[in-house]
Amino acid sequence: MTVRTDTLWEQFLKPIVGSFIDGEEINDLQTSIDWETESDRIANPNLEYPDYYRSQNFHGIQGGYLTSSAAVTYDPITRYFVPPHETWVREDAIKQIKGNPQRILDLGCGTGSTTVLLQETFPNAEVIGLDLSPYMLIMAERKAKEKQLPIRWYHGKAEETGLDGDTFDLVTASLLFHETPVEISKAILRESFRLLKGGGEFLLLDGNQDTLRDSEWLTNIFEEPYIQDYAKGNVESWLETTGFVATETEIVWGIHQVNWGRKPQPVAKSSPVTVEENDDIPYGVAPA
Ligand SMILES: C[S@@+](CC[C@H](N)C(=O)[O-])C[C@H]1O[C@@H](n2cnc3c(N)ncnc32)[C@H](O)[C@@H]1O
Repeated sequence: MTVRTDTLWEQFLKPIVGSFIDGEEINDLQTSIDWETESDRIANPNLEYPDYYRSQNFHGIQGGYLTSSAAVTYDPITRYFVPPHETWVREDAIKQIKGNPQRILDLGCGTGSTTVLLQETFPNAEVIGLDLSPYMLIMAERKAKEKQLPIRWYHGKAEETGLDGDTFDLVTASLLFHETPVEISKAILRESFRLLKGGGEFLLLDGNQDTLRDSEWLTNIFEEPYIQDYAKGNVESWLETTGFVATETEIVWGIHQVNWGRKPQPVAKSSPVTVEENDDIPYGVAPA
């Protein structure tokens, strides 16, 4: 008897996906880009890819996100796998933002679908998208250029961005945490906390951990190596452990989860004041 060694993705989902995406259009797009030149332009030559990222296939693609095929197929496939409508779900997440952020960082921005919506929602903000895949960033940059949006794109690690701390009003991560090991997701939260100004907001969009917990078959079908560990955890408690306050979890369309938290304002240090014995001066108020 011959035992099939191909994955559930290859057996079942790949043929279905293949039937509803336009292979010719994707092929035209893929051949229209000089990937080597473009990725050399975008890539940070000093960046070392972590093993958890480089060694895994995602969504049935050999080499995962470090390939041009992942980049060109991501949008056509994602459209069908973020029901009921990808843009509505992303917009629902953005609606949870409380303030009017002037400096925004989108971590693991991929092809920039959320990044673009953030810039459209906050047209005066400076928006940066950061990702580990130069190929995904090439697609993101094209998308923003088509819409004439001034987004900047960085090739980097979400858990160690190298960007200055206390400089962002909003840090976001959409569909990232189910793709990173739990300890990396927690490191990304710590890095986000460091990057945010006091009072700044963190926003996450991903799968509903409660519903994913009961669907181990997804791991095999979608080739999501870290999704089950993500599902076993609890992002709200990770946020609280990191130091975020006023945290919220919103379930969107049943199967998606939006987490929000605020970095507390720094507590003003009371200046050492020598108050002479004077009953008229209330405690802690400096004499004029
Ligand atoms: C499922 S895609 C999500 C893309 C996009 N945020 C969206 O909502 O469509 C996950 C992305 O995270 C990126 N990624 C994974 N681990 C990362 C890390 N540690 N730092 C930065 N990007 C990472 C991948 O390269 C990929 O583009």
